[in-house]
Amino acid sequence: MIVRRKKRGASIVPEAERERDAPPTLAAQQTVARFGHGSRVPGWDEAADLTKDPAEVPDPATTPVPGALRAEIEEHMAKYPDFRSAAIPALAAAQRVHGWCSPEAIEQTACVMRLTPGYLIAVASFYDMLETSPVGRNRIYVCTNISCSLCGADELMARVLEEVGDDPDFNVRSFECLGACDIAPMASVNDIYVGPITLDDVPMLVEQVRAGVPPLPNKQLHLRKSTDPGAVS
Ligand code: FES
Repeated sequence: MIVRRKKRGASIVPEAERERDAPPTLAAQQTVARFGHGSRVPGWDEAADLTKDPAEVPDPATTPVPGALRAEIEEHMAKYPDFRSAAIPALAAAQRVHGWCSPEAIEQTACVMRLTPGYLIAVASFYDMLETSPVGRNRIYVCTNISCSLCGADELMARVLEEVGDDPDFNVRSFECLGACDIAPMASVNDIYVGPITLDDVPMLVEQVRAGVPPLPNKQLHLRKSTDPGAVS
């Protein structure tokens, strides 16, 4: 969720107050949270408590799991020789149901996979697209890697943040190369690749996302014409 200060009306405001109330810079908004010793993970340097009971696999009798989620997780598990290899798609499925990898989502996934919640938390806290805190349901990942940066990605990111404001339904983040440099500057909008996005496109893009309609259809990568006429139906 992006939190931005509301704009003040046009009035004479002392300079110190203006600075205090100025919107956070893009750099500040993108600052990575740091914990002890500069770690991105809280508690990494705390000694393990060897006197604690080992974490338990959740009991199916007391851990209700939605039927569709259980079926999807089991389907993923069946694809791999070692079922633990399904941890990422299983967590992604739980995230789609719960909005993020909440304690409940972790418990349900652990229950179906017969793993400890700690095992899955270790996976979820490592991978960028598995959310370990609540986020807005609409995901806009603006690529700010080299090709997109050279084509104005930083300005695009700032413009998207401005347009979204403090709407809690949005999860706007910058991302490293999303692998679609030929449509730079681009973004992944609820998993749809869109680009090149101009600053003037942004109000329409955000409006379409709010309305739940496909974003900028004429700029969606998967709708582009291909040399293979059968590639896009
Ligand atoms: S640098 Fe943006 S998609 Fe590659």
